[in-house]
Amino acid sequence: MNRTLTSLCLTAAALTGLLAAVSCKKDAGTPPQQTQTKGQSIMDVKIEPFGGLPDGTAVELYTLTNDKGLKARLTTYGAILVSLEVPDRNGTPGDISLGYDSLDGYLKVSPYFGAIVGRYGNRIAKGRFILDGIEYKLANNNGVNHLHGGIKGFDKVVWTAEPVKETDAVGVRFSYLSKDGEEGYPGNLKVVATYSLTNDNELRIVYEAETDRATPVNLTHHSYFNLAGQGDMLGHELTLYADKYTPVDEGLIPTGEVLDVKGTPMDFTAPAAIGSRIAQVKGGYDHNYVLRSGGGTLALAAGVYEPVTGRLMEISTTEPGIQFYSGNFLDGTITGKGGHVYPLHGGFCLETQHFPDSPNHPGFPSTILRPGQKLTSLTVHKFSTK
Ligand code: BGC
Repeated sequence: MNRTLTSLCLTAAALTGLLAAVSCKKDAGTPPQQTQTKGQSIMDVKIEPFGGLPDGTAVELYTLTNDKGLKARLTTYGAILVSLEVPDRNGTPGDISLGYDSLDGYLKVSPYFGAIVGRYGNRIAKGRFILDGIEYKLANNNGVNHLHGGIKGFDKVVWTAEPVKETDAVGVRFSYLSKDGEEGYPGNLKVVATYSLTNDNELRIVYEAETDRATPVNLTHHSYFNLAGQGDMLGHELTLYADKYTPVDEGLIPTGEVLDVKGTPMDFTAPAAIGSRIAQVKGGYDHNYVLRSGGGTLALAAGVYEPVTGRLMEISTTEPGIQFYSGNFLDGTITGKGGHVYPLHGGFCLETQHFPDSPNHPGFPSTILRPGQKLTSLTVHKFSTK
């Protein structure tokens, strides 16, 4: 499906209201009182300083709170989701995302914890592609390949932010201008990523982009989730609404084939513990699944259930693919929030996206955005317990 069609299929209603900015309090310290008296909303957007870059650029932290016990903290650095508190089946809140307590951690070493990834999420083989007869060379940062936007992708820049408030949701709208030539990409690309928390216990992410020259674009969100809050996530039960996947070579570049998952350890069409067959998958799961929906309309992509805490996360998206990454490169060397050491498979990523290396695979859904077109994409994470 081409980009214009994708835009048309994402209803205006999904975006309405999300972009209405409101003036919100900025303060440096004490959290607001959040006791809810009956019928009174505690939905809030709070803005605080979150340190700064070595060059002095200030970084902010936005805290979103809904009326149902969800709390998200997001920073202008990398448009990163720093934490996401979700109640368990007893109503006890717990942070289900991996990351750092302070900006410093993100600046030192981060495997894209919680970030918005771009200009192109996942890999482009050998960092090259041909578009309209011109060869482009990108910055390579993953062996000979280009990964997640290059050396300084959207996860490592400071975004502009403004709070968003509507009747049943609060959010933050992050904007970034990726200049022509950045990391080798053509065109000035205006990107907006709007996160919101709704009173239906959803974390919604709306992506928008426009360009002045044709360019590949593949935006995604890179949270590592652990619905139990710590330890490994091999006992989490995963369902993927996908019958096919795109196999990869040694460098994790798609071979171009689209294979059936049926009868293989890749099959999550029925709920299965992530750890149940992971040993049969060389290196662990790090694959793009081809969603049954085909993309273009909002449809269920994945469900993850954690039996001990009862937390369930369901992901819907307008994207045609989802990268399931089982935290294979976590190895116990990172100490994150609250002093937690992140072990192998300490978190999983479910990155809604177009397929990796699409610019070099004409058979994959197109990732090319052209002047005059508007990219819009929506992903919803819905939380409940059972
Ligand atoms: C990729 C992995 C990569 C990881 C980086 C994932 O999106 O699929 O191959 O190592 O990001 O943290």
